[in-house]
Order: sequence, then structure tokens, then C-alpha cells
Amino acid sequence: MSDKHARLERLTSMLRRRGVILPAFEIHGGVAGLFDFGPVGGRLRRRLNNSWLEHWASHGDIVEIDSPTITPEAVLIASGHVGEFNDFMSECNACGGAFRSDHLAEGHHPNPDVLSQEELDQILHNNSIACPTCGGGDWKAARPMNLMFDTRIGAMKGGRAAYMRPETAQGMFMLFPALYRHFRNRLPFGAVQTGKGYRNEISPRQGMIRLREFNMAELEYFIDPEVEPAHDFSKWESIQFNLIPDPEFNQPMSIDPGSASAENIIRHPTVAWFMARTWDFLVSVGINPEMIRFRQHEGTEMAHYASDCWDAEIHGSYGWIECVGIAHRGCYDLAAHESATGDGNLRAWRPYSEPRTVDKTVLAGKGSIIGPAFRDQAGAVNDALQSIDEMPTGFPFELTLESGDSVTIEADMVEEKRIQTTEHGEWFLPHVVEPAFGIDRILWHIIDHSYVETEKGGEPYTVLRLPASIAAIDIAILPLMEKDGMGEVASHIHHQICAAPNLASYYDGSGSIGRRYARADEIGVPWAVTIDHESLQNGSVTIRRRDDGEQIRIQPDELVDALVSGAVTSLF
Ligand code: ATP
Ligand code: GLY
Repeated sequence: MSDKHARLERLTSMLRRRGVILPAFEIHGGVAGLFDFGPVGGRLRRRLNNSWLEHWASHGDIVEIDSPTITPEAVLIASGHVGEFNDFMSECNACGGAFRSDHLAEGHHPNPDVLSQEELDQILHNNSIACPTCGGGDWKAARPMNLMFDTRIGAMKGGRAAYMRPETAQGMFMLFPALYRHFRNRLPFGAVQTGKGYRNEISPRQGMIRLREFNMAELEYFIDPEVEPAHDFSKWESIQFNLIPDPEFNQPMSIDPGSASAENIIRHPTVAWFMARTWDFLVSVGINPEMIRFRQHEGTEMAHYASDCWDAEIHGSYGWIECVGIAHRGCYDLAAHESATGDGNLRAWRPYSEPRTVDKTVLAGKGSIIGPAFRDQAGAVNDALQSIDEMPTGFPFELTLESGDSVTIEADMVEEKRIQTTEHGEWFLPHVVEPAFGIDRILWHIIDHSYVETEKGGEPYTVLRLPASIAAIDIAILPLMEKDGMGEVASHIHHQICAAPNLASYYDGSGSIGRRYARADEIGVPWAVTIDHESLQNGSVTIRRRDDGEQIRIQPDELVDALVSGAVTSLF
């Protein structure tokens, strides 16, 4: 076993033993691609999620929403997921094992994700690729498999076809009218949503990397495509990002995001801006900046809705892994939902800088026919005729009045007229830039990058050097002994800390103090406090820093204040 592989095994076994991440439903045999976050992992994930939400809330024009995970089929037909959200699957003729065809082709093509069905079949055949389960090499032709889990809303005949959402994004598109109103009808603005996404992955592998139910965190940022965005890239002027553009356009390069945008290497400035803000977030939660690169999708690799996409990939024990996709979705989704539903509220208003005079052909009602035909509705029919945006393609046609009633207009009721009107603006479909984060993959890499194996007293010793801002537990409370009142003092401090907002401590009173420090270090607790005999005399306790073992004495109230304000480091 390679050193790398052995380290990975030790790390995953620690995560399981310490209740960070564990295979789900294990006593019933487990299910590939489903994991539990245990008592330590649950909080770690929540903290990461919260950091992500706060990161975007700080922009001032981004709000949080929450939508159902069960999605009616009609929504996902319109969005293109029913037709297009597929991966190619190859099935082994000998054992029936099914695998993602592009994963089987890895190592035989620089980017198998871009390959067609025929190309994948050829690679499997020409390279005699063995079945990972039985070793056979006889494959059925690759075929597309839709990744969505289907379900039904309601029972029996009245039930409606539905799917578990494969992305949270559709929720933001459905809520566009409410968001537009919330932002007082002004672009740009964004909405974020965190929650579960579901994909029936063909062959889940690599632990947290490929799950069937996973934690997504997505931002849809709505922009006017005709307004040149003004993003200030000066903050990243001296930071070189590793970019791997589509080989059709450019070679890999190190460049700051502002220059990459100015030189059109990243085609849209808002995409470049979100790449830079993604980099900020990843580094702030403990990802090693040397281990981040951005890779542009090749044309045939792009999702059905995207016109450009850059993945933020992170390097770790499984090599380079996509953790964030930053896509330019154009007006794909809003246009698709508009055309599927006829709903006119998915547009934004673009005022003209100067009113424009336009010549138009309109339909005018012939009074002698409209009057008798519609009587007291005749005025409303005339108003509705005048406000038609697009001329009907033929007669008769249905005209909706402001009251919501519908009337049938025959050819002899109207005549065409050329008129001049003054227009003050136009309705248009906003474009969307979307950073889509996979929280589980990011969390995995934070753990992977933080996990340090050392030695203490000739014994292996491991530390998880998590940033204090996302560590699951802020502080370990360790009474030197549980007698003479030390246990009670420790327990009091423990409860005081747990009652403070957004803080967690754990009480550990068993074993040698060295063993207890080791247990805290192993799951990344940044601070440990020891209550000893001196604490009983003058109330002071010892606080120890995880990363260098340095210790100072302090009063518990001072400690709690420093933990709440996040300023413990400054006490040293
Ligand atoms: P991949 O090519 O690895 O299948 P993808 O291109 O399908 O990923 P996206 O559709 O862009 O991924 O999803 C957005 C993000 O959601 C990804 O960057 C990733 O972090 C996360 N993600 C996607 N699929 C999974 C999964 N099966 N398990 C865990 N996270 C996932
Ligand atoms: N919403 C982006 C994705 O699912 O990939």
C-alpha cells in the first residue's frame, strides 16, 4: 500500500471512530454514496455552511431563500434536467456491474468528460479496460442514464410525477418575481440557498467526493447583460490564480483574476469576480491556496444550461477534484420557464436613458363591431388590444383583459394601424452567473489539508489543524481530577460556554491529561482548558493552544469573553 493510500485509510478510520463522518445505515449493510455526519461532523458541517452564508451575506445584495427539495416534473422538464441530466453508463456483460463510462476511461484520455458515447466505447474496447468488480473486459455499449431520483407527489391516480432536486438553483429561478420585488425591481442581485441535492450516481466512490445525497450551497446572481459590470479586482492584484483554460483557447497560466478578466481569458467580469470571491472563501475556511486551481470546461463538457463554466478544483488525497462550478447560465433557465408556463413575471425592466419614439403597428378595435359584440367590456377590449406587445400570428385569437377574463377576437373586429409611441424602457430576461458549491467535497478537503501526522514520545500523534472559525468544538474542558471540587468548577465553565451564542465545548474527565489533549487535538479542538488545584484557590484556569501547546493562566470569565469575540489568540 502506498504511503498516500495508508494515510487516507488512517484518516478515514479516525473520522469514523471519532464520529465525524460515517457510512450511513451500516447495521443494515450500508448504501454506497450515503454518509452520516456524527456528533463532531454535524457541527463542523453547520459551521462551514454558516461561514458560506455569511460570506455571501456580506455582499449586501444577496439574500437567502429556502425551497422544497421535492420538485414537480414540469419544472425539471422545462429546466432541461429530464432530457439532459445524464451520465454515460457502461455495463459489464460478465457480472452486470455498472460504472460511469468516463470514469472507466480515466488515464486513457486527458478529459474523458468531453467524450461522446462512441468515443467512450472505443476507449474501453481499444484499451481492454477491465471491470473493477470482476476483472472482465466485455462491455455493453455505453448509454445515458438520468441521474435524478424520481418520486410521486400524492397517491394513486391523482399523484403527480416529481423528482428529488438535483440542484437547488431551480428554487431561485422559481422565486425570481419575489426576489425582484424584494430588491425594488433593480438588478443586480443574488439569492443563495443551502440544502440537500440528490443524484443517483452510477458508481459512487472516493468517500465524500461522490454522494447520492449531498449538501449543496448555490448562489444565483441576476444581472442585466447590457450593463458593463464594475468589479474592483484590486484586492487580488498580487495573487496569482492557477488557471487551466479550455485548451482550444489558451494554455495553463498563473495570473491575477483582474488581468484574466481584462485580457478576456475569463470571458465575463462577473464570472471572474465570483471566481475571486470563491477563492477568498475557500482560503478563509482552511483550504491551502497552493491547492486551488480553476479549470474551464471544454465546449462538449459544459452542462446543458451553461455558456461558460470554470470549476474550482482542490488538490487532496484523491488528486484534483471539482468542488465548485462557476457557470454563466445566460438567460437559459428564465427563458425556459417563461416559454413552458407563459408566465410574464420572469423579466426585469430596463429603463432607457432617454425616452424613445417608436413606430409600431397596433390592432385597433372597430367600434361598430366591438361595441355590440362586447357591450360593457368593449372599453376593456380596446385597452387590451392596444397593449399587445406582439402581433398575433393569426385569427381568431384569445385576448386576456386586465380583469383576467379572456375574449375571442375575430379578424373582422380589428384593423391594423401604424402609430408612434414613446417608450421609456423594455422588459428583458436577466442573465445569471452561478457559483455552485459542494459542501461535502470542500469539507473533505479542509479535513484532508488540516490532518497532520506527527509523533509524540515515540508514538504516532495526529492533529487536525482546523481554523478556529469552523472547528466543531471550540474548547475542551479538562478537570485535572474529578475530586476536591475540580469536576464541579469544570462542569460550570462547560455549561457557561455552551450557553454562549455559537460556542461549543466538551467536557472530558477521563484518562491522563496527555491522553485528553490528544483526543481534543485529533478532532481539531483549537483550545483546551485545565482546571487544577490553583483554580480552586484563585479561580484561574490554564488555557492551552492546540497548534503549539503553549499555555497561559486566565480567569474563566475573561476566557468566555475572548471565545465569544473570537480573540483568544490575542490573549497569548
Ligand atoms: P462531477 O463532474 O464530479 O460529477 P458535476 O460537474 O456534476 O460534478 P456540478 O453539477 O457542477 O458537479 O455540481 C456542483 C457542485 O456540487 C460540484 O462542484 C461538487 O462540489 C458538488 N457535487 C456534484 N455532484 C456531487 C456528488 N455526487 N457528491 C458530492 N458532491 C457533488
Ligand atoms: N447548479 C449547478 C449544478 O447543479 O451543477
